[in-house]
Amino acid sequence: MRTGTSLKIAAVTLSLLCAGALAQQGTGTGTPPPAGGQRGAPPAQGQGAPPQREGGREGRGGRGMGMDFEGGMKLAGRGYKALKDSPFDASSRARDLEALQGIEQGLIASKAQAANLPMSPKAKEKFGTDAAAYQTALRKDLNAAVMAALMTEQAVLEGKSADAKAAFAKLGKDQESGHSLFQKDEG
Ligand code: HEM
Repeated sequence: MRTGTSLKIAAVTLSLLCAGALAQQGTGTGTPPPAGGQRGAPPAQGQGAPPQREGGREGRGGRGMGMDFEGGMKLAGRGYKALKDSPFDASSRARDLEALQGIEQGLIASKAQAANLPMSPKAKEKFGTDAAAYQTALRKDLNAAVMAALMTEQAVLEGKSADAKAAFAKLGKDQESGHSLFQKDEG
């Protein structure tokens, strides 16, 4: 029952996040991702990279929220950094909520571009040519991180400091395991 409730919360919040991320790119709490740049550019076609979804980096059609995978991660990273030393109590509530919103929106923006993320060497080892299994694992791990961020937010909203800390620690684990398998520069 608890899991069912959590998933319902996640489903409702995710739809709100999609709309919110668009707003956050303007004024709001987030800094818009860089307009260009080498690292954020999509992999070139014909170099083993998967084909770009229609709309490419800018994600026309709304799904990419104007960010590529890395741009979404950068947004999540800013929120995560802001929370590292948070006491998760009444004194930090407003900052916590703002930072969590950034994490959630960043992760969702990255997930919208998951189909464009080339396999890391470790992912290649694990999934070989099974692109469907790779995409499933990637999306599941991103979902787990989004849910941990939502659970952190839920605890903050309820004023449950210890629960917020525990959920944020889980988010840290999700980040570590996600990066260890899917980030190409990870050792
Ligand atoms: C709290 C959760 C997370 C945070 C705060 C976070 C943050 C970041 C940051 C700051 C970067 C570096 C961006 C840059 O190049 O400057 C990054 C990259 C990346 N993250 Fe995450 N991440 C999180 C969770 C995850 C999860 C769960 C996955 C996968 C399931 C993931 C996959 C990746 C990948 C693949 C990259 C490399 C992207 C690229 O270079 O194109 N991350 N992340």
